[in-house]
Amino acid sequence: IPVEPADLVIIGGTGDLARRKILPALFRRFCAGQFGTESRVIGVSRTEMDGKEYRKLTAEAIAEFSEHEGCDMGRLDDFLEMLHYVTLDAKGTTGWKALAKLVKSERIKVFYFSVGPGLFGDLAERLHKYGMADEQCRIVVEKPFGRDLKSAKELNRVLAQHFDETQIYRIDHYLGKETVQNLMAVRFGNMLFEPLWNSQYVDHIQITVAEEVGVGTRGGYYDRSGAMRDMVQNHMMQLLCLIAMEPPAKFDPHAVRDEKLKVIRALDPVKPDNIVRGQYEGNGKRPGYRNQVENRDSTTETFVAIKAHVSNWRWAGTPFYLRTGKRLKERASEIAVVFKDAPHSIFDEDAGRHRNILTIKLQPNEGIELGVTIKEPGPGGMRLVDVPLDMTFAEVLGPDDADFPDAYERLIMDVIRGNQTLFMRGDEVEAAWAWTDPVIEVWRDSRELPIAYATGSSGPDDALMLMHRDGRRWREIKA
Ligand code: BG6
Repeated sequence: IPVEPADLVIIGGTGDLARRKILPALFRRFCAGQFGTESRVIGVSRTEMDGKEYRKLTAEAIAEFSEHEGCDMGRLDDFLEMLHYVTLDAKGTTGWKALAKLVKSERIKVFYFSVGPGLFGDLAERLHKYGMADEQCRIVVEKPFGRDLKSAKELNRVLAQHFDETQIYRIDHYLGKETVQNLMAVRFGNMLFEPLWNSQYVDHIQITVAEEVGVGTRGGYYDRSGAMRDMVQNHMMQLLCLIAMEPPAKFDPHAVRDEKLKVIRALDPVKPDNIVRGQYEGNGKRPGYRNQVENRDSTTETFVAIKAHVSNWRWAGTPFYLRTGKRLKERASEIAVVFKDAPHSIFDEDAGRHRNILTIKLQPNEGIELGVTIKEPGPGGMRLVDVPLDMTFAEVLGPDDADFPDAYERLIMDVIRGNQTLFMRGDEVEAAWAWTDPVIEVWRDSRELPIAYATGSSGPDDALMLMHRDGRRWREIKA
């Protein structure tokens, strides 16, 4: 369904995120017929350039970064017609009147702050001053939303001076991923799982977001963040919330976000021996982390494994093991719900004991797998074996239906539609920082270094121990 015509202003319109994600996403939604020619995309940045040059930059970005098949490049010129450009000084006066004149007051206006959080205050103030912050106005902000609780509170305060919470869209792109939304569909659209979804039946839950890439050229940003701020405080936390939350009464922004917030607030503080941090080493072919960042003695973590507890009625006693890292074996992200053993086995000891595991595969191959125990075929007596009931979405739905839109496509359209369900609310972000801050503080104050792990491994051995000592083990990192 097409969204209504809007003016979408990308502040930082020539930057990396605009070129890699935002502009290609808009083009793909344009090709899909959802974002129409009556809308306008207004690129804004400090750089002096005109509309023609901006269209050229956009065409190049789309050629380089748009991966979506089925997008008719023959329609690129029509899309480029929608583009405008304004040179603007976020902290000064240049360009603001021109921008105010260009955007249409009666329309939905989306201002995408694709710039560092240091500019949010200046931008919010000027949007207000130049008469653009009316009720039809929405702002989009990217992570990192602060670097700790204090700075996140300050950002929330600054934005709240000029905008209502209903106008603020804080992006966590994991919430825009199709399979992440599927978590809710699986849990709340089926009768099958919810009755078992608690500590009585679930032994533990594993959430793995493994990346094969290293920090690449993002060392400057990453070295000040580390995996805890870059991945755990936001993406991992959101996954945990969707798995652990109570069923919301409705699929609406308030109900969903209220339930997620309750999960974050129910998280116990992490004890130091329930957390392992690591840093990758080079391997001859690929440089180690310390060779990719300015500080050769950096103690920034590129891997984290955590045993977390959600202390509420549903989850008391069921640990959530989280791990994420760069330069691991493969790019493979999944959530595994590991059920308890059947209470009593009617089979001989040597039939073996087995467990049901529900695995939600997030990437690269989206799907759901349910491990069930059956009899091993053949005349050899009653021996049990686990087999997967495997549903790779691309196979079940067919390649066209499984050609999922990129997270940014979904999320930007949601902003225009005015649907905040898949965006983080201010109190959620603050609660997440309140949980991660103490961990980061302990690291900062300790002399302990992150544990080195080999490029292409599954992370430090200590992370394996985190599970072994509980008589459990991580699932293999496998795409
Ligand atoms: C980003 C992080 O938010 O998410 C990156 O800053 C990380 O460090 C990326 O690589 C992972 O996203 P995806 O969609 O590739 O899993």
